[in-house]
Amino acid sequence: MAKIILEGFMGSGKSTYGRELAKNLLIKFTDTDGEIEQKNRKTIANIFEDYGEEAFRNMETEYLTEREASLEKYDEVISVGGGMPVRAENRKIMKRLGTVVYLKAEADFLKKRLSGKDNTRPMLAGENKEEKIDRLLAEREEAYLDAADYVLHIDKKDLDEVINELKAIMHGRRKGIREL
Ligand code: S3P
Repeated sequence: MAKIILEGFMGSGKSTYGRELAKNLLIKFTDTDGEIEQKNRKTIANIFEDYGEEAFRNMETEYLTEREASLEKYDEVISVGGGMPVRAENRKIMKRLGTVVYLKAEADFLKKRLSGKDNTRPMLAGENKEEKIDRLLAEREEAYLDAADYVLHIDKKDLDEVINELKAIMHGRRKGIREL
């Protein structure tokens, strides 16, 4: 089984699906944002505020680098922050760590999911949230696709359908089918 790595834009449900999948398979769930928060004893919002985005991006790379260096091979679901795949270096490590699944959703779906008041996501803070979503999505799509072994469309599927697709990928029953 090994590791499945869930990537995708903010609001695509990486943590929700990841936690559910791990519970289902009785394996470990890891959320890179949560790990970085714990290590720094600060929320992501506070890390951005106190040290800036570049420092946070370095922490993300450092996290992946340490995970790879540890050489452990236990089964695990890892959900990575929405910006993690932007750096080519991170994409390479993600691919080496396990099977990468891009949880893909249309912009309108993500805008709805992200429409509430939310001060936990510094990348969307301030005015013109919808414009920011459009811009970041356009900037990142190529990176998400480049890292992905599978592209799983989530916006028209219920939780069970997504979990079943992920289980099939994890159990190797989906070899060769890239877009789901
Ligand atoms: C970010 C996404 C966030 C978090 C940070 C930056 C991004 O994670 O890592 O706020 O640049 O897309 P989620 O995708 O889990 O919200």
